[in-house]
Amino acid sequence: MKRAIITSALPYANGEIHLGHVASTYLPADITTRFLKMTGTEAYYICASDDYGTPILIQAEKEKKSPEEYVKIWNKRDYEDFTAFGIAFDFFYRTSSPENVEFVQETFLKLMDNGHIYEQEIIQFYCNFDKKFLPDRYVIGRCPYCKAEDQYSDLCEKCGRVPQEIENPKCSICKNPPTKERTTHYFFKLTNFVSDLGKWLESDSFLQKDVKKYVQNWIKDGLVDWDITRDISWGVPIPLENAKGKVFYGWFDNHLAYISSAVKFLKDRGIEGKEFWNASTIYHFIGKDIVYHHYLFLPAMRIGIKNEFKLPDYIPTRGHLMLQSRKISKSRNWYIGLKDFLNLYPADYLRFYLTLITPYSQDDLNFDWEEFAARINSELIGNIGNFINRALGFTKKTTGGSVPQEEHLDQADVDAQEKIKTLALELTPIMEENHLDRALKKILEFSAYFNQYFQKKEPWKGNHGTNNCIVISVNAVRSIAISLFPFLPDSSQKIWAQLNLAGKVYDQPWSSMSDLPLGKGHTIGEPTPLFKKIEPADIQSRKANLGNNGS
Ligand code: MF3
Ligand code: ZN
Repeated sequence: MKRAIITSALPYANGEIHLGHVASTYLPADITTRFLKMTGTEAYYICASDDYGTPILIQAEKEKKSPEEYVKIWNKRDYEDFTAFGIAFDFFYRTSSPENVEFVQETFLKLMDNGHIYEQEIIQFYCNFDKKFLPDRYVIGRCPYCKAEDQYSDLCEKCGRVPQEIENPKCSICKNPPTKERTTHYFFKLTNFVSDLGKWLESDSFLQKDVKKYVQNWIKDGLVDWDITRDISWGVPIPLENAKGKVFYGWFDNHLAYISSAVKFLKDRGIEGKEFWNASTIYHFIGKDIVYHHYLFLPAMRIGIKNEFKLPDYIPTRGHLMLQSRKISKSRNWYIGLKDFLNLYPADYLRFYLTLITPYSQDDLNFDWEEFAARINSELIGNIGNFINRALGFTKKTTGGSVPQEEHLDQADVDAQEKIKTLALELTPIMEENHLDRALKKILEFSAYFNQYFQKKEPWKGNHGTNNCIVISVNAVRSIAISLFPFLPDSSQKIWAQLNLAGKVYDQPWSSMSDLPLGKGHTIGEPTPLFKKIEPADIQSRKANLGNNGS
């Protein structure tokens, strides 16, 4: 049996999931997992909350909660929101789990043994009032490049650059100017891996070509070693005598939770984790903002512990979602929370629209309320919903729901049968190549074809061939239900019930969408409209409401 482990970028346990998160990573990963399972792969979708890091500590302090308490709240809430959206993780864990902490510490010690870690004294901001070192977001000041005020020391949000040294620095807690102190940090020798990373990127693989080019250019420009230390209290402790009070940088530990969570999940099922991992096809779904981490840090660390856990086969990388053509920003209140969206429209509407607008590339995508309504109304409802309702409604009306005996087939019938028989063959390679948007468009084409077939056959006239039209159309509805399952799981199961078929759609083999098993002797269920049209007036109020989150 084929095996696969699928992960998607771990969400920070620091605020609600919004549409920008799901479009490029969680949804494509979920669709892919559902597809792989239907093709008979033993596939597991593993995720976790990303619990450590300076911003989380600061936010917890602001809300007067312990960081443990704070991340627990978001871990639970994120999981609930994902589930409501039909994201079916096999396991959702956390980077702060005991298993991950242990795995991170072990990995560090192995890297050290293998000569990939060194110590170096550096100068850091220190606050004499709060008595702490001030990394990253603990310092705000003026960007030395664009002179924007109130920027974090690790990133200017105005110009996107990483300041060497922020001007006019202030402690972000007490607003007093910090002093500079010496501290010893541990560095990961990324520069040890230039040749191995180069070879990996050059090798014939499933990695996207355009992303590889990008990364190869970074390597050409020269890599720098990586400071993996933070002088804060919230993180995985560095397991060395003279590193008391120091923890790992969040990006050192978070991606290791892909492995530690998978191993824990498998262990609980009596499966040897390392063996399973290494026998699996590994997928890490990400957005393009974290290419650097997944194409350099992550593989270098895995190579650095002698490939005990194999490198990813796929790192499907997609672009950022814009909202009404503007960059999504939590702090500027320009976003739509996933939970809020799902209070307005069914999960499948959003899954349908986001899949259609999200190509397998780094191009940015755009959520537009009017386009959302138009595509739901004309494509999901006007095409798919219409065909299903027409085919099943007509069957119910003329035969009471029982599928009739086929008669002599004309050319249109033969062609239509052929369409069904070749559907799986057409879809499978596109799904395997990760072009989920194109696969969904193929299903739409299939449905449009059958709308036309039905229209041309004019079964309502009751001429010879009416029975064929019913039999073939009912089977086409079944094919749509199976092929739609990874994309629209709820709707797919509803179609299944209207066909009066037993069991779950996901228990059907993927290739069985190309069978025509429904014939005389089968009676369909009750056809009811699957979807409800979106009213233009509603869309106007959605648009007017943008930017009003939480008020
Ligand atoms: N939490 C990170 C982010 O949102 C992603 C972590 S992915 C992992 O950018 F690989 F590090 F786990
Ligand atoms: Zn700047």
